[in-house]
Amino acid sequence: MNRIGTKTIETDRMILRRFTTDDAQDMFENWAADPEVTKFLTWPCHKSVDITKALLADWVAKYEDGGYFNWAMELKENGRVIGNISVVKLNETTEAADMGYCMSRAYWGRELMPEALKAVMDYLFDEAGLNRIAACHDANNPKSGRVMDKAGMKVEGTFRAAGKNNRGICDEVWHAMLKSDRK
Ligand SMILES: CC(C)(COP(=O)(O)OP(=O)(O)OC[C@H]1O[C@@H](n2cnc3c(N)ncnc32)[C@H](O)[C@@H]1OP(=O)(O)O)[C@@H](O)C(=O)NCCC(=O)NCCS
Repeated sequence: MNRIGTKTIETDRMILRRFTTDDAQDMFENWAADPEVTKFLTWPCHKSVDITKALLADWVAKYEDGGYFNWAMELKENGRVIGNISVVKLNETTEAADMGYCMSRAYWGRELMPEALKAVMDYLFDEAGLNRIAACHDANNPKSGRVMDKAGMKVEGTFRAAGKNNRGICDEVWHAMLKSDRK
């Protein structure tokens, strides 16, 4: 694996880039404070922008680490930061990453997350040298599975009662793609 960390990636509609602490207001307003966005996530929605600011300060410090991959999704059409896509677990021994993502409800349904996930997977396979990229979703959150499908992952199976999110214990549906699966 190449420990190249989070570098800027450009897609048709977005700039995927490192967060800065100046993104706190966008992040707070657009998704971090919205219980509808965090419903199937493991962290509680932010009660004040100070929580977002502190989290961003922590993330920014982590960019020093070449094994840290965490992108802000900046929309070209208006310059707003509308979401987040990151490696939530990295296994350097097996060259494998698990992904997580979330974005502002105002932009759902435009296939922006599949576009971001595809671009990030290309980066992780081709530049960072990973061999396996996986993600899971709560069985009750199939729309996240659609993002994984559209990015080219295949369903691997369901781990019953294996996860816990803001709604409680849940079944996790796992999807993944290997470098060799790509055409
Ligand atoms: C899951 C999520 C990232 C999808 O991103 P997106 O850019 O809207 O992705 P898509 O446009 O491809 O839509 C994916 C599916 O969401 C559903 N969907 C789209 N717009 C929707 C809306 N406004 N309301 C409810 N569901 C919607 C559709 O089922 C769609 O699948 P389809 O295209 O096959 O019909 C986004 O909904 C989100 O941030 N959700 C909250 C956080 C989350 O659940 N993260 C994943 C945790 S595993």
